Formats: sequence, C-alpha cells, structure tokens
Amino acid sequence: MKTIAVTSGKGGVGKTCLTANLGLGLKKLGIRPMVFDADLALANLEVAMGVRPEATLQHVVVEEKSLAEAVTEGPGGLRLIAGGSGVPMLMRAGPKKLSLIFDQLDELAETTDLLLFDTGAGLDTRNLAFLRRADEILLVTTPEPASVTDAYATLKTLFRYKKDASVRVVVNMAANESEGEAVFGVLRQIAKDFLKKEVSYAGCVRRDPTVPKNARKRTLFLQSSPSSDASQDVMKLAGVVEQFLQNRGELVA
Ligand SMILES: Nc1ncnc2c1ncn2[C@@H]1O[C@H](COP(=O)(O)OP(=O)(O)OP(=O)(O)O)[C@@H](O)[C@H]1O
Ligand SMILES: [Mg+2]
Repeated sequence: MKTIAVTSGKGGVGKTCLTANLGLGLKKLGIRPMVFDADLALANLEVAMGVRPEATLQHVVVEEKSLAEAVTEGPGGLRLIAGGSGVPMLMRAGPKKLSLIFDQLDELAETTDLLLFDTGAGLDTRNLAFLRRADEILLVTTPEPASVTDAYATLKTLFRYKKDASVRVVVNMAANESEGEAVFGVLRQIAKDFLKKEVSYAGCVRRDPTVPKNARKRTLFLQSSPSSDASQDVMKLAGVVEQFLQNRGELVA
C-alpha cells in the first residue's frame, strides 16, 4: 500500500475537494483507494463526501475501535477514514496518539492499494507527521500569488524535515492548462534556486463552477458532473498518479 499526502501552504485551495474526487477517479481506474481525513482539527472529507460516519479517528485514539473498524463507505464505494471536528483529543494529538494511528495503517493494506491523506493547510506538527509518513506529496496551489508563496514556504519547511521528500505540484483553479504550467514553472524555479530541490508537476485542475456547486450539495463532481472541465482534469490527474506509482514499481496491480 502506498500513501500520498495532499497538502498546501495556504488554506482553501481545494485539497479536500481534490482528495475526494481524485480518490473516486483512481477507483474508476481500478485502483483500490482509501481517503483519510488527516486534518485533525476539522472534519472535512465526510462533509465533502456527504456521509455521516459512525466511527472516526476519535474512536481510534481512545482505542474504542481499530483503524480498520473506522472505515466508512462513501459515494461510488469510495472508502473513508473520517476525522473529528473540534475534538480536543485529536486536535492536540501528540506522538503517542499519532503512533496509535500510524501503527495501524499497515492493517489497511490488505484491502487498499493507495491511501490518500487530506491534510490541513500549513505545517503544524500533526500535518508534518502525515507528510513524513507519506511516500509522495501532492502540493496543491492556486495561481494566486499568496498561494504560490505559501506553497514555497511549505516546501522550505518540508525539505528541512524530510530531505528526500518526493513532491508533485497540482495547480488548482487554473484558468487553463498553460496557466497551470506557468504557475508550476515559477514554483519549480524558486525551489531550485533557493532550496536546491526539484519538484515535479502532476497537472492542473481548471476553475470550474461545478466544483462549488457540488460542494454545496455535498456530492462529488466526478460522480454528478463527469464531463465537466474539473472532472476531465481530475481523471487526467488520476492517470498521472497511477503512472508514477507504477513507474516506481510499487503498486501491485
Ligand atoms: N477547481 C475548482 N474550481 C472552482 N472552485 C473550486 C475548485 N477547487 C476547489 N474549489 C472551491 O474552493 C473551496 C475550498 O475547497 P476545499 O475545502 O477543498 O479546500 P481545502 O484546501 O481543503 O481547504 P482547507 O485548507 O480549509 O482544508 C470550496 O468551496 C470548493 O468548492
Ligand atoms: Mg480541507
């Protein structure tokens, strides 16, 4: 089982939307994904997926349930490990509570090829723990300068804690493909010049009104608007993710 953390510097750039829809896209490609709410302060994914989980990470950290028992089935059969919202035990989870979660991840491997962590924005110690645990990092930015600057700040901290981090950039809410490439080009260059690190490009998702429309209805755009721009882009992204996992020779088909 491979793990990918979806993260960003600035908040509200679309991590949760992308994680859920990318999860569904990967499922369509025949991969067995699971999405995991690693934002331990606010329960994001269950809202985006329109489910009401019976078991969450909250039950896992008090050892009422195992991690495998805390799986919720979501739209299109996409499976989810839900977080908690405003649960002090999770929001302030220290290394002991976190290792209770991390030590059980391998138990998901029997049913899962790929685990996608939806992290919170920024780099607190909990987010960083998930980024360190992940095999790959998808760094989400929008074309907005503040978002790119914050993405760079995230890279700077990330590489300090994880020198060999494998980072792929997703430009969300791009006007078009060339804007996505241009924004990636800027971020790539500053990472190269100032951090002496290479980051690669996973692709872009265009700004698309069907995304917030589905978010309001708590549905996944890939399911209800499969031919929208955002859905086309997410399927392309799913193909890229599938490919880089296969190229590493680590995803068992
Ligand atoms: N490609 C897109 N086009 C238009 N709107 C989008 C797109 N992607 C995301 N959005 C909108 O941006 C808002 C934020 O998305 P989301 O909650 O997924 O961000 P986030 O990065 O998870 O935020 P947070 O940092 O608070 O966890 C939502 O209203 C969503 O509908
Ligand atoms: Mg979120």
